[in-house]
Amino acid sequence: MTAETLSKPASAAGPVRYSTVAIILHWLIAAALIFQVILGWRADDGPKGAETFALFQLHKSIGITILVLSVARLLWKLTHKSPPAPAGQPTWEKIAASAVHVGFYVIMIGLPLTGWIIVSTSRINIPTILFGAIPWPHLPGLPELAAGAKDAWNNIGHLGHGLLVKFTYVLLALHLGAVAKHQILDRDEVFGHMAAGAKPGIKEPRLWLAAAGFAAVVAAGYLYTPAKAKAPQPAPAESSADELALPEEAPAAAAAPAATPAGPATPAAPAETAEAAPPADSVLKDPVAWAVQKGSHLDFNLAWADTPIQGRFSRWTADILFSPEALDRSKLTVSIDLASAGTGDGQRDESLQGPDFFNTSANPKATFTASKFRKTAEGRYVADGTLDLRGVKKPLSLPFSLKIDGDTATARGVTTLDRTAFGVGQGEWASTDQIPAKIKVSFALTAKKK
Ligand code: HEM
Ligand code: HEM
Repeated sequence: MTAETLSKPASAAGPVRYSTVAIILHWLIAAALIFQVILGWRADDGPKGAETFALFQLHKSIGITILVLSVARLLWKLTHKSPPAPAGQPTWEKIAASAVHVGFYVIMIGLPLTGWIIVSTSRINIPTILFGAIPWPHLPGLPELAAGAKDAWNNIGHLGHGLLVKFTYVLLALHLGAVAKHQILDRDEVFGHMAAGAKPGIKEPRLWLAAAGFAAVVAAGYLYTPAKAKAPQPAPAESSADELALPEEAPAAAAAPAATPAGPATPAAPAETAEAAPPADSVLKDPVAWAVQKGSHLDFNLAWADTPIQGRFSRWTADILFSPEALDRSKLTVSIDLASAGTGDGQRDESLQGPDFFNTSANPKATFTASKFRKTAEGRYVADGTLDLRGVKKPLSLPFSLKIDGDTATARGVTTLDRTAFGVGQGEWASTDQIPAKIKVSFALTAKKK
C-alpha cells in the first residue's frame, strides 16, 4: 500500500463499508467467539465439578449461537455486496485477506460443528439445553452409532475442535495484525469498512473502543461465574416452612407466625392456621427446627474404572425437625439437586446428569425423608426413611452422630447404597464392572436452632 492511495474515498465500484447487518453480526460474533475461547480454556481445565459443568453448558450454548449467527452472516455475505479492497492494494494482500476471511468462516462454523460432534458421540448420552431453556438435539445419526464408530467420531470431534482452536489463534493474530497495519501504517479505509465512520490513524476513537471491547470480553470470560452453586442452605422459609419445619420457638420478632405446637408438626398444617402464639410451657416437648449452616456438606464416593471418585452435591436443602427428647415426632427431609453433583471433571459431571445416570431432566431432585429415629448409643442415632432417587423409592437407614451445644448442633453420618436398585447406571453402566454398585454417601453438617 502506497501513500498516494491512502485517503482515497471509496470508489463508485462498491459501498464504503459493510452493511449495518454485516457490521452488527461481525462484532457480535467476534465478541462471542473471544468470550467462547476463554470459556473453553476454563471449562477444559477447570477441576471444579459443578462450576465446570455450568461452564460447559454455557460453552455449548454460546457455541451453537455462534453457529446460527455465522450461517446467517454467510448467507447475508453471499447475497450482499462487500466494500471493495482499497485502491492499489497488492494482490498478495487481497488474497491474504480473503484467505483469512474464508478461514474465519471455516472456524466460525467448524468449531461449533466439531463441538456438536463431541457432544453427540459422548459414550453417555448427555442432553444439551441451550441457556438452560432450549433443548438442542444431537447431530442426527451419531448417537445411534455402534460403540466403535461412535468413539471414532468422538475422536474426530476432539481432534477437529482442538485443531480449529489453534487455527483460530493464527487467524486472529493475522486479522488483528492486518487491521493494525491498514489503520496505522497504510492509513487506509479498511477499519472503516467494519467500524462505520472511522478515520485512518491511531487516534481513531473506534479503534480504541474495539481494543477496550476486546479486553472487556476477555475479562468477562475470566470473571464470569456460573450462577453460584449455593452453599448448602436451609430450606427457604417460603417454600417449606408450611410443610414440615414448624418452628418450636415462636420467632416472635420475625414476621413468620409460630406454628401451633400442640402435636407433631403435620405437613397439612397451613401457615395461616398457625397464627396463635404457642403457650410457652408446651414448647419444650416438641422437636426443634434446625437451620443448616454454611460449610455443611453432602458427599458421595464411588469407583469408576478403578479410580476412586469423590463427589459432592453443592445444592441441597434440609428441613430438620429434631430433638433427642422428641424422637417420635422428629422429621427430616433432605432435598438434593442432582444437577449440582460435582466430581471434579466436567465431562464426567455432564454424564452424571444424562439419562443413563441421574436423568436430571426427568428427575431433577432426590429426596430423603425420615420420620423414624432410633437412639443406638449416647450421641448416636439412626434415621430410618425413604430415599426417592431417579423415580425409585427405597428404604434407607442413615446412621449419624450428633452433638448439640446450646443452639448449635453438629452431625455426621455415612451410609452405603446400591445404585443399581435405583437404576442409576443404565445400558452399559448397569453392569458393575466399571462402576461398582455400592456408593458411599456421607454428610457433615452444622445447624442452628431456628
Ligand atoms: C474472533 C474475532 C473475529 C472474527 C471471527 C472476525 C471475522 C471477520 C470476517 C469473516 C471478516 C470479513 C468480512 C465478513 O465477511 O464478515 C472480517 C472483517 C473485518 N474485521 Fe473482523 N473478525 C474478528 C475480530 C475483529 C476485531 C477484534 C477487529 C478490530 C479490532 C476486526 C476488524 C475487522 C475489519 C476492519 C474488517 C473489514 C476488513 C475488510 O473490509 O477488508 N475484526 N472480520
Ligand atoms: C465458535 C465456537 C467455539 C469455540 C471458539 C470453542 C472453543 C473451545 C476451546 C478454546 C476449547 C478448549 C480447548 C483446549 O483447551 O484444548 C474448547 C473445548 C471444548 N468445546 Fe468448544 N468451542 C466452540 C463451540 C463448541 C460447541 C458448540 C460445543 C458443543 C456443542 C463445544 C464443546 C466443547 C467441548 C466438549 C470441549 C472440551 C473437549 C476437548 O477438550 O476437546 N464447543 N472449545
